[in-house]
Amino acid sequence: MLPQILRRIHPAAGFLGFLTILTFWTSTVAVEALGSHQAILAVKTGILWGMIVLIPSLAVAGATGFKLAGPISKGPVAAKKRRMPFIAANGILILIPCAVALQRLAAAGDFGAIFYAVQAVELIAGATNIALMGLNIRDGFRMTRGRLAARVAA
Ligand code: HEM
Repeated sequence: MLPQILRRIHPAAGFLGFLTILTFWTSTVAVEALGSHQAILAVKTGILWGMIVLIPSLAVAGATGFKLAGPISKGPVAAKKRRMPFIAANGILILIPCAVALQRLAAAGDFGAIFYAVQAVELIAGATNIALMGLNIRDGFRMTRGRLAARVAA
């Protein structure tokens, strides 16, 4: 019973986290390429509010993932277990501080070299997390397919 609920919650939380960070990334690139300073501030403020969605969804995806995986540590599960601490550390140590700094600079109207340097770091860290989470989605589907195929064969 419990694994069935976790099997539903886990990919939902994972996808939500993935789509949230993808939205942060694409809206940042779009508004900085095309938008006014006021529009950039709006996006930067929206991203801070969006953390209310991103942080819990990643925590839930990670916790349910480790629970579903249990003690197994080989193949795609091992890869997913290895990636998750990077995803979390990247988020906590780089993405959140960058998002706070960028919102503050934008609110102060300071769009100088520091803003764009921090922005570059945030975009690279964000793209890294999008890629790592994409790999976790790919491996997740592989594992579910493998489990279902084994059940049909049995
Ligand atoms: C952001 C991180 C993660 C994302 C986006 C993610 C995404 C997914 C997705 C999309 C599936 C397929 C579910 C389905 O076919 O219905 C899945 C399955 C799975 N994931 Fe993750 N995952 C993440 C982290 C983790 C972590 C850290 C672990 C722990 C090792 C993990 C363990 C599993 C397991 C064991 C399954 C197979 C569930 C089953 O038995 O069907 N995941 N994941």
